[in-house]
Amino acid sequence: MHNKHITAFHSDNTAGASPAIAEAMLKATAGLQPPYGADTYTQTVEQQLRDIFETDLNLFLVPTGTAANAISLAAMTPSWGATLCHAESHINNDECGAPEFYNPGAKLISVPGENSKINPENLAALAQIKRGDVHSVQPSSVSISQATESGSVYSLDEIQAISSVCQDHHLVLHMDGARFANALVHLDCTPAQMTWQAGIKALSFGATKNGALGVDAIVLFDPTLAQEIAYRRKRGGHLMSKMRLLGAQMQAYLEDDLWLHNAHHANAMAARLATGLAAIEGVEQFSRCESNILFCRMPDYVIQGLLGQGFGFYHDRWGKGVVRLVTSFAHTNEQVDCLIAATRQLCS
Ligand SMILES: Cc1ncc(COP(=O)(O)O)c(C=O)c1O
Repeated sequence: MHNKHITAFHSDNTAGASPAIAEAMLKATAGLQPPYGADTYTQTVEQQLRDIFETDLNLFLVPTGTAANAISLAAMTPSWGATLCHAESHINNDECGAPEFYNPGAKLISVPGENSKINPENLAALAQIKRGDVHSVQPSSVSISQATESGSVYSLDEIQAISSVCQDHHLVLHMDGARFANALVHLDCTPAQMTWQAGIKALSFGATKNGALGVDAIVLFDPTLAQEIAYRRKRGGHLMSKMRLLGAQMQAYLEDDLWLHNAHHANAMAARLATGLAAIEGVEQFSRCESNILFCRMPDYVIQGLLGQGFGFYHDRWGKGVVRLVTSFAHTNEQVDCLIAATRQLCS
């Protein structure tokens, strides 16, 4: 079968794994280790994360970001409750109902806001609707994506504003950090500032999109949720018996700041792409590229031309002519420049 080579910008998971992570996985296949997370790799990761976040925490490794989100939110929300989230959030749009599947009865309620970010005033208004009314689900948790699905990043003040609303209305705050590292290096703040110091109680800490082959983590800053999450992870089929394969990846991801290095690179590739495309007449960029995702609008013949030349990306899912381009730790200057040059030529 002919296997056409595609320069893929569909998502940051088009990349495989950083070499250090691939090597760590292979090494971890040797020897005997206790199962279900009692292995030395997972134990080491827990300590690494305590150092990185400068606090005590509970760690639950899982193979996907969807599992991290759905299990955390199920633990943070009663079955008669609701999670407030942005309409464009991954949990609302792209998880095939996993949050509702893991917590039958509970609902997702979308909160409007620009740039894919929840607006705190809208959140406060929705948090009060039908409070105490036995006929209605009760707002219980809030989930924000950092970075967001359109590539924007909440500032620390914006997270704090949402956190204040959560405190006022007794809502538990979750962060979907599938692109945590990309947001962190953009803000140039500490992991502690972006999470527990700003009121985040549970974090889905992504690694798969930024160098790992397949591991994300639930990082829990509220120990009262730990038991709930432990049982739900097992019941939901996400407690890996050979957890060492997740632990070894995460350990290598965090070692020597590989995770930060990779995120810097991914963001720099997106910035390069944004600058290159901005100079092309016929391409309209309309998302705020603060991490590694770029949305733009192009004429259909340009989209078809790029696809025909072997570039890959999602298009027309968000509207006619809308293209999403995502860069990763593995994209090169040359690949980005080729895409810019091909777009320029097609538009000329
Ligand atoms: C914002 C966000 N959250 C979570 C995920 C996790 O997805 P997956 O279950 O494919 O690892 C993704 C992946 O696209 C995402 O973009």
